[in-house]
Amino acid sequence: MKETPIHQQWSSRLAFIFAAVGSAIGLGNIWKFPYIAGENGGGAFILVYLVCVFLISFPVMIAEVLIGRRTHKSPVNAMEKMALEAKQSPHWSLLGWMGVIAGFLILSYYSVIAGWTLSYVLKSLTNTFGELFATTATQDYAAAIETVFSNTIANPWMLLLFHSIFMFMTMLVIAQGVRSGLEKAVSSLVPLLFVLLIILIFYAFSMPGWNQAIDFMFNFRFEDLNAASVLEAMGHAFFTLSLGMGAIMVYGSYLPNKVSITHASFIVVSMDTIVSIAASLIIFPLVFSYGLEPGAGPGLVFVTLPIAFGQMSFGIIIGSIFFILLLFAAWTSAISLLEPAIAWLIENKNLKRYQASIFMGLLTWLTGLLTIFSFNIWSGFTPGDKTIFDWIDFLTSNIMLPIGGLFIAIFVGWLVSNKVTSEELNTSPNNIFYLLWKFLIRFLAPITIIIIFIYKLLDTLGLLKGAA
Ligand code: TRP
Repeated sequence: MKETPIHQQWSSRLAFIFAAVGSAIGLGNIWKFPYIAGENGGGAFILVYLVCVFLISFPVMIAEVLIGRRTHKSPVNAMEKMALEAKQSPHWSLLGWMGVIAGFLILSYYSVIAGWTLSYVLKSLTNTFGELFATTATQDYAAAIETVFSNTIANPWMLLLFHSIFMFMTMLVIAQGVRSGLEKAVSSLVPLLFVLLIILIFYAFSMPGWNQAIDFMFNFRFEDLNAASVLEAMGHAFFTLSLGMGAIMVYGSYLPNKVSITHASFIVVSMDTIVSIAASLIIFPLVFSYGLEPGAGPGLVFVTLPIAFGQMSFGIIIGSIFFILLLFAAWTSAISLLEPAIAWLIENKNLKRYQASIFMGLLTWLTGLLTIFSFNIWSGFTPGDKTIFDWIDFLTSNIMLPIGGLFIAIFVGWLVSNKVTSEELNTSPNNIFYLLWKFLIRFLAPITIIIIFIYKLLDTLGLLKGAA
């Protein structure tokens, strides 16, 4: 059954873990998680999120890695091969196709936001926020920082410049290949990311707002929780672990046969969760120390934090470290968004890796223009009350990823035999953990994904007026 893989393999279990952790930890953990936790009242939200991560996302991650590792092929071909082995229609490859498309669409806007991060690294290094604090009247300071942000996104040329640099960085890594590109990049960036995170946590711990932040995050005020926040938690538990579009599957396909899928996935899920909590433990103490608002939404990182950076001691250093951390996190995620497409181009179109990287990189770069213009020259173009950027985000995060996750769960849970799954997970089909996983992947994961999916769809189409 097993042929020699045409792609390189990770050199060790650790390399896979770094790559998958690098994919998982991204803008989702550091930019998005703290603000949705903030908007949804903190503690109780975090509890619900943890339940979702371990009961829904973790089993789906095992399923994705399993498909990749079993076939050692890109998601499109992996799905086809696995389906044929299970005597199912080869058209399951469509699931791989949806992933390829979702990945490049997500990257097209992810790269633009990573570009903001890059521009904020430069702003921090050149002390933009500190200078504003020194030169602006106290009551106008916050508004001045806000203007920095609105000016950043209002200028298409600047956004284009930073988006281009970020896409170039991404292509550069991918073009070098699995071992000397991806593996080399993640093996230095991921440990570095943890070092930066630890430095920032120590700083946050020294702030007067630390206790208030702990209280905000770990005090379960269930009255703050509503149906919408539960669903937000579930949706995010998916996005943050890079599930539903084959990124983890393609990384699984480079995994040597002897490595335990369950162990490796557990480490990835835990690391990702720890980083989301840690990011909140960095952000909220700063927010509370300066009497700012935790529920500031997407502006939490690009407006609220700079307000704090501008006036605190070591603000240049702490601010720069923070945005560099965010940039590295985005970088190691970006490469995983393109890899399913790259692997397919290499397998089916006989392209060299560098050719595939240039092709996909340019395509993504071009598509990114839609997002760039959504913030400025096309900001008034909002069919259905959404900008084009909002639509791409909605289509990918709320439609394609849940459908991807759902069908992966159904496929592995119901169509692939126990013999194949237990063999790949290296356990007996009667093992209690195996049975638990099987239950979660057959029932809990599909059912909850369907509920979120329908709810979010109705919500967006405005059919839930007044609910939640
Ligand atoms: N998980 C990353 C984050 O939290 C983003 C990401 C990378 C992603 N690859 C993905 C999201 C694949 C969905 C699917 O920012």
